[in-house]
Amino acid sequence: MFPEATRERLESGRQTYTLRCGACHETYAPASRSPTEWEWSVAEMSERAGLAGERQKIVLEYLQTFAQR
Ligand code: HEC
Repeated sequence: MFPEATRERLESGRQTYTLRCGACHETYAPASRSPTEWEWSVAEMSERAGLAGERQKIVLEYLQTFAQR
């Protein structure tokens, strides 16, 4: 899905997701939602999580890579 998604990039996305998105609620499993649903949630939740730009992008890439198919 993301040809430029290296292991480090995905790992960094996972860590950011755990730290930032897991601060308020459980870290919902990536496979619990579709890629499109993740796009919506990340767009909606990023402000609360203080995420923008590249940090926001790597979190979305991580979630979409392991999303429900
Ligand atoms: C400041 C607290 C806070 C942070 C940080 C946060 N969330 Fe949330 N999130 C909430 C609250 C509160 C809800 C409950 C529903 C609502 O208010 O929209 C929620 C709901 C959700 C839901 C929907 C749950 C359901 O019932 O389907 C998803 C998915 C989600 N958040 C993902 C994320 C992601 C991804 C991030 C990181 C980018 C994130 N959240 C960061 C507070 C937070």
